[in-house]
Amino acid sequence: MKAVRYLGPGRPFRMEDVPEPEPGPGYVSIRIRAAGMCHTELHFESGLLDLGVAPVTMGHEIAGVVEEVGEGVDPGRRGERVVVHYYAGCGRCEWCRRGLENLCGELRAEYGFLSDGGYAEHITVPAANAVTLPVGIELTDAAPIGCGVTTAVHASSIAHVGEGDVVVVYGVGTVGFGLIQVCRLAGARVIGVGRSRRKLELAQELGAEVIDASAVPDVAAAVRDATGGRGADVVFELVATAATMDAAVAMLAKRGRLVFIGYSKDSFAVHPIRLVISEAVVTASVGNTLAELEEAVRLVASGAVRTVVDHTLPLKRWSEGMEALRRGDAVGRVVLTP
Ligand SMILES: NC(=O)c1ccc[n+]([C@@H]2O[C@H](COP(=O)([O-])OP(=O)(O)OC[C@H]3O[C@@H](n4cnc5c(N)ncnc54)[C@H](OP(=O)(O)O)[C@@H]3O)[C@@H](O)[C@H]2O)c1
Ligand SMILES: [Zn+2]
Ligand SMILES: [Zn+2]
Repeated sequence: MKAVRYLGPGRPFRMEDVPEPEPGPGYVSIRIRAAGMCHTELHFESGLLDLGVAPVTMGHEIAGVVEEVGEGVDPGRRGERVVVHYYAGCGRCEWCRRGLENLCGELRAEYGFLSDGGYAEHITVPAANAVTLPVGIELTDAAPIGCGVTTAVHASSIAHVGEGDVVVVYGVGTVGFGLIQVCRLAGARVIGVGRSRRKLELAQELGAEVIDASAVPDVAAAVRDATGGRGADVVFELVATAATMDAAVAMLAKRGRLVFIGYSKDSFAVHPIRLVISEAVVTASVGNTLAELEEAVRLVASGAVRTVVDHTLPLKRWSEGMEALRRGDAVGRVVLTP
C-alpha cells in the first residue's frame, strides 16, 4: 500500500510502498478513510521534533472503517466506523494504571509518532484504540477529533478551566478552535488571539472574543484592557515563539496558569520574579487519554463541539497539504482521504 513516510530529521517526507499490516490477536485492521494533517507534522519535517524513530508513516488523526479483526476480537466490529486513539500504553506502569497512557514510558505504539500512522491506506491498532463513531459524524469530520478536539479536552483539564475563568487561546488554529469550544462549555470567558481574519472570524463564531495580534501594539496590554487590568486565569500557548511566550507571561492574572501545548525553536526564558510575585503556574499538556477521546467523540456527536476542516485531498496529493500547513492559510485541518 501507499504511505507517506517521515525519513528522519530535516529530510522531506516521501510517499513509499509499504506492506499492508495484518491484525494480530486483539488487534483490528482499519481501512483509513480520513487522516488530518496536524501542525506537528511541520515540527517533524523541520527536525525540531526528533523522536529517534525513522522511517515512520506520519498522521495521528485517523478515522476509517474496521476491515479485519484479529483473534479474540468481536467479529461484529467488521464494518464499524472508528477514530483511532494514537497511544497504546503498556497497561502496567504507574501512568497507564492511572489512565494516563500519554505519559507511558513503555508505549507499545504511538501512531504517527513512533509507529506507522494514518497517511496510508490501512493501519492495525489494538481493538480498544479503535473508538466507535456514532452515526451522523462523517469520517472526514471525525479525523480531527483524534488530536484537534481531544488535545483541547486534555489541556483544559490540565488547566482546571472552570466557570468564570478568563481563558486566552494564543494561536487560533485547529487545536485553538477545539479549546475555544471546550472552555466555553466549561463556563469560561474565552479570548482568542490570532493574526488572520478568517481564523479570527471563526473563533468569534465559536464563542470567543478576539484580539488581532497583527493590529495591536501589545497583545498582553490588550488582554489586560479587556479584563479591567486583571489578566487571564489561563493562557494556552499554541505558538510559543520568544515574543508570544513573553506576552503570555505578561497577560497572566494572579495565580494564572500558563499551559504549553505548542512549541517553536525558541526557548522559554523568564526571570522567576515575574512568576513569584503573582504565584503563576507554568505547566504543559501532551496528547490525550482514551477516556478523553471518548469524551471528545461524545462532545462532537452531541453537537456541543464541532471540528473544523478546511478541505480534503486524496493521499497522493499529500504534499499540497504540507504546503498549506507551511503557508498557514488553511482554516482548520486539511484532511487526506486515502
Ligand atoms: N501538546 C500537544 O499534545 C499538541 C497537540 C497538537 C498540536 N500541538 C502543537 O500545538 C501547536 C498548534 O497546533 P495546531 O495544529 O492548532 O496549529 P495551527 O492550526 O497552525 O494553529 C496555530 C495558529 O497560531 C496562529 N499564530 C501563529 N503565529 C502567531 C502569532 N505570532 N500570534 C498569534 N497567532 C499566531 C496561526 O494563525 P494566524 O494565521 O492567524 O497567524 C495558526 O493558525 C503546534 O505547535 C502543534 O505542534 C501540540
Ligand atoms: Zn496533532
Ligand atoms: Zn505504561
